[in-house]
Amino acid sequence: MMEFIKKDVAIFSQSKDSIWLDVHLAPQMLAAHLDTEFDGATRNANYLDQSMKWLTQKFPAQDFPRLLDLGCGPGIYAERFYQAGYRVKGIDFSSLSIDYAKRSAKEKGYVIDYQCGDYLNTDLGNEYDLIVLIYCDLGVFSPKDRQYVFEKAYGALKKGGRFIFDVFTPKKYADFEATSDWKLEENNFWTKDLCLHLSAQKDYSGTRTYLDQHYLIYPDLIKEFFIWETVFNREEVLAELQAVGFTKNEVFDDIRGRSFTEDSETICFVVEK
Ligand SMILES: C[S@@+](CC[C@H](N)C(=O)[O-])C[C@H]1O[C@@H](n2cnc3c(N)ncnc32)[C@H](O)[C@@H]1O
Repeated sequence: MMEFIKKDVAIFSQSKDSIWLDVHLAPQMLAAHLDTEFDGATRNANYLDQSMKWLTQKFPAQDFPRLLDLGCGPGIYAERFYQAGYRVKGIDFSSLSIDYAKRSAKEKGYVIDYQCGDYLNTDLGNEYDLIVLIYCDLGVFSPKDRQYVFEKAYGALKKGGRFIFDVFTPKKYADFEATSDWKLEENNFWTKDLCLHLSAQKDYSGTRTYLDQHYLIYPDLIKEFFIWETVFNREEVLAELQAVGFTKNEVFDDIRGRSFTEDSETICFVVEK
């Protein structure tokens, strides 16, 4: 019961529970995806509109017809790509999100190929013109898994295809301070039943990786969530992409196509196979 008490959590070690899959949190994350007002699991509707406008103009469906959305959630981008004329496949490991996406597509008569699975362990094929990984999901991976994501994306693209993704930069954590807290909680985002909630935010110094760590302690159960996030600078990501084989690249301040300034909380990369 008390094995969760460790002095330090090894960097990128996986927690027993996942915010995307937990029986209480997965529905909260789905609700966050569907809330168009705030930047929860999906960005707000205004950002999304600007993002879709830029992506569909820069990479039109007639030139880039086959699109793979990695971590598609409940299909918010996937549906918009479909409406813009792409042939879309979406993969996500949240069955709740994928079930929602399938239901929504069926109701609207959209033909979108959704798959429930971990894209790290899924055969992605090799037929895509565009692969998107949207909302800085790359930051959750260890360097080894990140390289694996790059290799898988490279392998799944056709020659001339593009991999498009965004990441957070160190600006996001400019004011970061390590903290820890405990509270008795019930009926909130984290828990329905009363529990003791221990939380800590840590900086793995020198790695630009941060841990948001949570334990929910119930009389007969402890839930454990480690949320990792690495932030990046342009040069290191480009070097890793180049090592995998990607050639031409473009960088932007964000996935709405704003010009690169080195002053943004995000960077968007567009690389070509
Ligand atoms: C921050 S959300 C972004 C969702 C979507 N790209 C968007 O912007 O609306 C991350 C999504 O990736 C999914 N996810 C995270 N790691 C995954 C993995 N290894 N395989 C499949 N899905 C994953 C989560 O379930 C979640 O839906």
